[in-house]
Amino acid sequence: MAKSYSSAMKNLEKYLFTAIEAAKAAAQIQNYYIGKELEIDTKSSETDLVTKVDKLCEEKIREIISRDYPEHIVLGEEQGQTGEASHRWIVDPLDGTLNYAHGFPFYCVSIALEIDGDVKVAVVLDSTRNELFTAIKGRGAFLDGAPIRTSSEIILKKSMLATGFAYAEDTISENLGIFARVHHKVRSIRRPGAAALDLCYVACGRLDAFWELKLDPWDVAAGVLIIEEATGKVTNRSGGEYILTDKVIIASNGVLHEKLVDLLDLENSLK
Ligand code: IPD
Ligand code: CA
Ligand code: CA
Repeated sequence: MAKSYSSAMKNLEKYLFTAIEAAKAAAQIQNYYIGKELEIDTKSSETDLVTKVDKLCEEKIREIISRDYPEHIVLGEEQGQTGEASHRWIVDPLDGTLNYAHGFPFYCVSIALEIDGDVKVAVVLDSTRNELFTAIKGRGAFLDGAPIRTSSEIILKKSMLATGFAYAEDTISENLGIFARVHHKVRSIRRPGAAALDLCYVACGRLDAFWELKLDPWDVAAGVLIIEEATGKVTNRSGGEYILTDKVIIASNGVLHEKLVDLLDLENSLK
């Protein structure tokens, strides 16, 4: 029993090394192209950008994963997913593209590995600060190898929150209403612009909580595990169990969670 546990853990550690190598390779591409021609294109709306760097980074990450684990599949923001397998890597090759395209230094690479539907390994690399957030399920969360945990703030009025605005107009308007209603009930609200990194900031206590209304699995898969391993909490809009296909996410230090769910009141304020 003990032997099989430790061999399973060794595998998770190997997966983590691959994820770190892939994230570093992508961050290197991002840093190389900053300030150069990015061949910016739009996707779902005028503000939903994709650059050649998003595509190059996903290509590179896929290359490294399939070199080590050809039998695994990848769900990536730019290329989607082909096939089914017990091991699925969930990849946002460049989270914070809009920031990146403007040279605003807050963007990252996010890579998670899901095994039989459960995220077990997570890496988020802040490409400009070179801060590496990692987690293996059941083994805690780390920033540059040092353990991290969420803040212990229990008072909303003393807490700093963050949110993000999706690219769909109706969701932006909905969230602006929530932002305005909630802002004076807390110390302040930030809008940094890279959901995966926002979640890691909750994990290490730089933020007390985060919410967003329309995210995809690649935005959150790694960050959710990192928060949970850092003793934080992640739920859906009503405070119930969060699953990766939920668009709405509420993430916090844990101790603030119930108050936050009540304050946001997403059950009543969303269509
Ligand atoms: C976006 C960022 C942003 C969030 C958007 C996401 P992308 O991801 O995480 O912070 O508000 O909803 O789509 O497009 O930069 O990978
Ligand atoms: Ca993203
Ligand atoms: Ca992206």
